[in-house]
Amino acid sequence: YVEKGLRPKSLREYIGQEKVKQNLKVFIEAAKKRKENLDHVLLYGPPGLGKTTLANIVAEEMGVSIKITSGPAIEKPGELAAILNNLSENDVLFIDEIHRLNRQVEEVLYPAMEDFAIDIVIGKGQGARSIRLDLPKFTLIGATTRAGMLSAPLRDRFGVVSRLEFYNVSELMQIIIRSAKVLGIEIDEEGAFELARRSRGTPRIANRLLRRVRDFAEVERKNNIDYNMAKDALDKLDVDSAGLDDTDRNIITTIIEKFGGGPVGVDTLAAAIGEDSGTIEEVYEPYLIKNGFINRTGRGRVVTDLCYDHFGLVNPAAQ
Ligand code: ADE
Repeated sequence: YVEKGLRPKSLREYIGQEKVKQNLKVFIEAAKKRKENLDHVLLYGPPGLGKTTLANIVAEEMGVSIKITSGPAIEKPGELAAILNNLSENDVLFIDEIHRLNRQVEEVLYPAMEDFAIDIVIGKGQGARSIRLDLPKFTLIGATTRAGMLSAPLRDRFGVVSRLEFYNVSELMQIIIRSAKVLGIEIDEEGAFELARRSRGTPRIANRLLRRVRDFAEVERKNNIDYNMAKDALDKLDVDSAGLDDTDRNIITTIIEKFGGGPVGVDTLAAAIGEDSGTIEEVYEPYLIKNGFINRTGRGRVVTDLCYDHFGLVNPAAQ
């Protein structure tokens, strides 16, 4: 995970995601003017693109506190009720992996989000009564890797729904140069460019690779990360020229070698490489699809000609 110090603390410092940023800026300013809570926000997209960072920034810019939890961490309705009841007016509640909330807990969220109230059932059977407990107004920020995994009633209760995109190379360069400054690492433009190019469009990966490259530089007594330093270290880390790692390559070579280039269903593919199919769909595929290495078809995944090219192979179907 990213060290606290690396995370930008304001929208102004936050690099990339321009559209999301511009929209949030307007909604935050408007809510502050009205002295109201910001509407609930759903952030979705592949991991490592800055959902948690953005949630922290929203709280900071609103001038309120943030309480951070996650879908799997809340097991019982009463636990969520306690969290909600302990918030202060206009606070942010951040629920990471919100698609993993269980049904009963999710149902507590509906009236909480809509009416800022929860219904508590007292007693059992014939004598059971429901009483309504008012909550402070708050902003729920939910994060998920795939908005499609959220139930419709939950998704519909978010006033702001923002998709985070992969970062381009120039944005990643700026992030790497900023992180290097924070960590006291010397890196030149060419070094930062090579790192950015191979970071899978993902700041979390860029920051991780920056640290690993620094390790190689330190041991080799180089005090500046230039193109050669970055390239050699990234080669040793098995990150290829397109930023693909071992698992990416395993997915691709398995489709080519075991399934004739596809189409192959994601479950079959997952079983063949011993990965979880959800992880393939949410973590690996988005980048491979975005960059044209594989396509998702009705009958399953297929590798593209570009992908054969990248691996120095020829698509047998194209011969
Ligand atoms: N570190 C991680 N993500 C970042 C971003 N989007 N902007 C600035 N620094 C970051």
